[in-house]
Amino acid sequence: MSAAAQNLTASPAARAFLARDHRLLIGGQWVPSASGETIDVFDPATEGHLAKVSGGGKEDIDRAVQAARRAFRGEWSKLTSYERTKLIWKLADELEANLALASELETLDNGMPLMVAQYSIASFGCDFLRYYAGWATKITGDTIPVSPGGVRNGESLTYTRREPIGVVGAIIPWNAPLIMATLKLGPALAAGCTVVLKPAEQTPLTALFLGELVKRVGFPDGVINIVPGLGESAGAALAAHPDVDKIAFTGSTEVGKKIISAAAGNLKRVTLELGGKSPMVVFPDADLERVIPGVTRGAFFLQGQNCMAGTRLFVHQDIFDRVVSRVGDMANKFRIGPGLSPDSDLGPLISAEQRERVMTYVASGRKSGAELVCGGEAMPGRGFFVKPTLFSKTNMDMQIAREEIFGPVLCAQSFGDSDLQAVADEANKSIYGLSGSVWTRDISVAHRMAGLIDAGQVSINCHAAVDPAIPFGGNKQSGWGREFGREGLDPYLKTKATTVIY
Ligand code: NAI
Ligand code: MG
Repeated sequence: MSAAAQNLTASPAARAFLARDHRLLIGGQWVPSASGETIDVFDPATEGHLAKVSGGGKEDIDRAVQAARRAFRGEWSKLTSYERTKLIWKLADELEANLALASELETLDNGMPLMVAQYSIASFGCDFLRYYAGWATKITGDTIPVSPGGVRNGESLTYTRREPIGVVGAIIPWNAPLIMATLKLGPALAAGCTVVLKPAEQTPLTALFLGELVKRVGFPDGVINIVPGLGESAGAALAAHPDVDKIAFTGSTEVGKKIISAAAGNLKRVTLELGGKSPMVVFPDADLERVIPGVTRGAFFLQGQNCMAGTRLFVHQDIFDRVVSRVGDMANKFRIGPGLSPDSDLGPLISAEQRERVMTYVASGRKSGAELVCGGEAMPGRGFFVKPTLFSKTNMDMQIAREEIFGPVLCAQSFGDSDLQAVADEANKSIYGLSGSVWTRDISVAHRMAGLIDAGQVSINCHAAVDPAIPFGGNKQSGWGREFGREGLDPYLKTKATTVIY
């Protein structure tokens, strides 16, 4: 059966998009891959075939980098910052005007519930682009009074300029495909860079849809190039390319380390947003009416396929049993089903491979003596669905509590009346340091604990608060650098100091 026909629930507009000939966007043209290779794209809710997409390799990456370099030197560099602002803003408007179709394609490709796709694309697609559109006109340097070589005070000064770093290679994962693309494009374009974007092989569709909008909006050719392809070919070629100035990567810690090695050839700049194993720490005075939905959603949002997911729940012993049983009840009530169905709270995992990985961890949890409170099973039938799973009585020696599972598995453990440092030490027993949350009504405990958690962002009485203006990124093996906010612009800029002696 043909791709689109199998998806009877998809809208005519989505079916028309799926049925298209999906090529690579290089230098403003849709072109087939040099090798003629294609990638098959599947719906994780039905396992049905959705589309065939040109699969780029080394040669295509090279052409895309050349196109990005030409654009960087050419028309793009001549535009004023106001013109960049307008183009980025127009892309946001165009995406908003097509929110329904973009969200539907995201749900078909990734599996996330449609509501989640709509919300996330509106906030972290459209509004995120608008946030960075505003920054394009606010990139400034300093003037610094200096006296080099003993020049008298007042007879010399240095001014700094913040220049775009150049050609950016953006390599993104499958867990929130479209917004991952906008998270890289926003600051890169605001800074004046050009981009080669490589979406994940599992989920190339919405990046290609975004490519159509990019063309419609009228970005100069080559400013944004989009090359779907496999990680080990297209991704590796981009990371190693001698004419790429910077790689912005989101994905696994394992591949992050490979990116660093590949980037060493020309010492390109690298920012990395990697894995996490984020703690949620609940004190006995916390408002359980907020804690229960907060930590349950914090753990299972995007089926746990979310780098910020709260996957380790630390609860004070006095309320441990109550919290665990209520979180289990709420998790059991989540409706699991295809993202296109309005009744689904949770969708499928991305692939059979990911389901297998998660179920291997569940088996390890059972074997290690953790107590299974709910879930622990994949759903029979079509689609890669796994029930939200809660293990109680876990400890930090267990594999399920140490390693990133990237699925709907939450580990709970209790703490006693020890001092805050001891609780934090336990929460920090991880190679990761991406996110964390503290739940209490005591403002001293809240701020002290937030200070002690070793993570790039900590939320108090909520989990994983994200906003385009909040710096986002990880400590330890969760990554290098920060995205979002003013800080998120820095990796796309380089400083030039110019000194004048009067
Ligand atoms: P991955 O890290 O392999 O994939 C992310 C991106 O990197 C994709 O675009 C992929 O094509 C690309 N890539 C893969 N190998 C590459 C290489 N050698 N050079 C350059 N680019 C390369 O993630 P994968 O295999 O899809 O998922 C495995 C695990 O990684 C997950 O179970 C999860 O634990 C973690 N992960 C974490 C993410 C996060 O946001 N923190 C996102 C995706 C995966
Ligand atoms: Mg991989």
